[in-house]
Amino acid sequence: MADYKITLLKGDGIGPEIVNQAVKVLDAACDKFGFTVEYDEALLGGCAIDAAGVPLPDETIAKCKASDSVILGAVGGPKWDTLPGNQRPEAGLLGIRGALGLFANLRPSVIFGSLKSASPIKDEIIGGNLDIMIVRELTGGIYFGERGRKEVNSIPAAWDTEMYSTEEVERIARVAFDLAMKRNKKLTSVDKANVLESSRLWRETVIKVSEEYPEVELNHMYVDNCAMQLVRNPRQFDVIVTSNIFGDILSDEASMIAGSIGMLASASLSGGKLGLYEPIHGSAPDIAGLGIANPLATILSVAMMLRYSLDRPQAADAIEAAVAKVLETHRTSDIYEEGLIKVSCEEMGDLVCKAL
Ligand code: IPM
Ligand code: MN
Repeated sequence: MADYKITLLKGDGIGPEIVNQAVKVLDAACDKFGFTVEYDEALLGGCAIDAAGVPLPDETIAKCKASDSVILGAVGGPKWDTLPGNQRPEAGLLGIRGALGLFANLRPSVIFGSLKSASPIKDEIIGGNLDIMIVRELTGGIYFGERGRKEVNSIPAAWDTEMYSTEEVERIARVAFDLAMKRNKKLTSVDKANVLESSRLWRETVIKVSEEYPEVELNHMYVDNCAMQLVRNPRQFDVIVTSNIFGDILSDEASMIAGSIGMLASASLSGGKLGLYEPIHGSAPDIAGLGIANPLATILSVAMMLRYSLDRPQAADAIEAAVAKVLETHRTSDIYEEGLIKVSCEEMGDLVCKAL
């Protein structure tokens, strides 16, 4: 029997191409560090709609629950864009997050030295290097609140609900404080407490949890200000903790500071060992099948999996170092720079394996 059982949810668009490269790198890490992994595949998103009629088949949930960890490519595409909201591929993604209780989404924004020129932000603003960890609440708030349509004075209208319980805020705050303790002991909680009642409860609760972490310097920021501060002075941030929707928006913004959305990994954690690891970018249907996708965000997600779920920090460090090394000379087209060698998705996977 293998040491770890991993479920692959390759998904749609470029999902299969990038997951295949990540698997290759994980296999290489197994050889180098002396452990074994066994894979199973399951359907999620558009491919599940086509094969099984629903974006999240029960079998997929069962397989994920029976594994040590899950690697996800990406879901969605124009083919399924006209389906009603609860039948879209994205509903499968939200469903698996809910079903596995993955309430904590870690989205590191790290800039690789050699990629600094790919960032639209000036060098002097980024400084030496950038390392921000966004902790996004992932199973609550407006994404999971009640919603509906109605008529107001005979005019069609629609509504969604943002709601958080103190329990939901406490557990995500603890994840963020724990991470801050392992990093620079600085936590920024982002909300809209000048307007939203749910944000006022969020802020009160984070302050209460902070009493358990006297060493961490906590500050609060409104989300609009945070969006501005991220491009004005990103170096002021260490760990950011925020709600589901604010985290969705701010993590895309933070990814651009790091050069390309094609580089950023994420971990979705449940409090137990089981985690789901995926790039933060989407399925990129426009380039699917062309073999030019950047697999590095998925490969870096495997590094996060080794660190947070499988307790193999050395293998995680080695993969990250291998990626940094390859980037000095080789690039996929999304991060290509003159003078370097342009490579395909598959070649990039091979190069990272070799550098390991
Ligand atoms: C993400 C994505 C998803 C989200 C979509 C595809 C539902 O944008 O993981 O950030 O909004 O959570
Ligand atoms: Mn998003």
